[in-house]
Amino acid sequence: MTTSLFDFVYLISIVLFIVGLKRLSSPDTARNGNLITAGGMALGMLVTLFYPIQSGDNNFAWIGGGLLLGSAVGWVAAKRVQMTAMPEMVSLFNGLGGACAMLISIVEFYNYPANTSLLNGAVFTTLFALFIGSISFTGSLVAYGKLQGFLRDSLVLPYPKVINLILLIAIVVLGSYFMSLPDLDFNLVSILLVLSLIYGITFVTPIGGGDMPVVISLLNSFTGIGAALAGLIYNNQVMLVGGILVGASGTILTILMCQAMNRSLFNVIVGGFSSSGGPAGEGREEVVKEATPNDLAIQLKYSQKVIIVPGYGMAVAQAQHVVHELENMLETEGVDVKYAIHPVAGRMPGHMNVLLAEADVPYPKLLELEQANKEFPSTDVVLVIGANDVVNPAAKEDASSPIYGMPILEVEQAKNVVVMKRSMNAGYAGIQNQLFFGEKTRMLFGDAKSTLNKLKEEVDQA
Ligand code: TAP
Repeated sequence: MTTSLFDFVYLISIVLFIVGLKRLSSPDTARNGNLITAGGMALGMLVTLFYPIQSGDNNFAWIGGGLLLGSAVGWVAAKRVQMTAMPEMVSLFNGLGGACAMLISIVEFYNYPANTSLLNGAVFTTLFALFIGSISFTGSLVAYGKLQGFLRDSLVLPYPKVINLILLIAIVVLGSYFMSLPDLDFNLVSILLVLSLIYGITFVTPIGGGDMPVVISLLNSFTGIGAALAGLIYNNQVMLVGGILVGASGTILTILMCQAMNRSLFNVIVGGFSSSGGPAGEGREEVVKEATPNDLAIQLKYSQKVIIVPGYGMAVAQAQHVVHELENMLETEGVDVKYAIHPVAGRMPGHMNVLLAEADVPYPKLLELEQANKEFPSTDVVLVIGANDVVNPAAKEDASSPIYGMPILEVEQAKNVVVMKRSMNAGYAGIQNQLFFGEKTRMLFGDAKSTLNKLKEEVDQA
């Protein structure tokens, strides 16, 4: 078989990546898109295995062993992972992608003849892939540790910005010196490797745990760039295009997340919100009105239209299935029930969509922010379940608030608002929420899942 035929099959797998990625943009086609992309990847790997190479040794035993081991670990991890632990898994797998780019660069440097002229594109690409891959590797491991709770946010080195700047300058200066040398110095490669690995740690350590989804997305785009650079090193089109797609989509996702929070990437990286979680109504004289499951059940049953606003607390309580059961009960009573989804509700992109899909909530019941805001004025009851920042009117009214400017779900426009949470504690942004003291608002305290179970019983009996 000629190489052009192999290249043609590469082209097919690239097309499969693009078609699959396009289909990932809608929940209806996402599963299918995922399979198409995986098919493209399998095809790309298969072609690479049999691509004619100059040296005779194909190392099939090593490659086969790696494939089997990697597939087994990936399969078990994907089957076992809880939906709420998805960011951790993405972070870990992303770190491994970075480690691949790093290892490829080390092997390439090792293989370059000692008298290689260093001032050339290939050496620069390999050096850059080493840097990006190493940052992605250790940075993702730190992100994983933070999300898992192994590493605390309080664990910050003194003067993190100064340390990061010194490391970055050292890497640039040493890298430039390395490129200017007449011969390849593998000791210098080792020093650059260690510095880049340390930079990955010091870059992510000061960033707050709650900002990890944004950081993971950023590191994901770094890994994509690392893979694209490896594609350049090996002159492999499928690796190049795959890496560019990951790099570009990771960058777009990072930007979209920052926009939805109305924060700059710089603000996220240098540490934005405090996540101390103090009381939401600190220093207030005002009192809140409380609801009981019994009176809420009656009110819900006699409503025409109810909108549920899920937030991070619903994910913590794993209340998505009970929410769906309540929705079904109300629907059989003739109540129109919908869900209002804020783009950054929860702690990862699409967090609420994923949880509600897991509970089989029909997708057309989910309203996006603008649509939901139009429907609130004609809504009898809004049930806010474990959401806080995404319904905080301070985002519109208080210019001094850290969330000022973030688009929010304007639930106070509805006829009645009931907020389910365990206490008056703040959410992720660590700020008070005036909504809880609003004229139309009542609080129903307790863990979201047990409160919803009580509510279901009351609806049944009402
Ligand atoms: P938050 O503002 O974090 O509020 C969640 C609320 O849930 C808390 O106030 C907490 O109050 C309550 N809660 C926790 N466990 C609960 C349980 N078991 N039962 C009932 N309630 C419980 O959540 P949100 O409104 O979803 O907003 C998300 C925030 O995360 C935004 O500030 C957003 O910018 C940020 N963020 C999001 C993302 C993405 S991509 N989604 C990424 C990074 C940051 P109690 O402790 O009183 O119960």
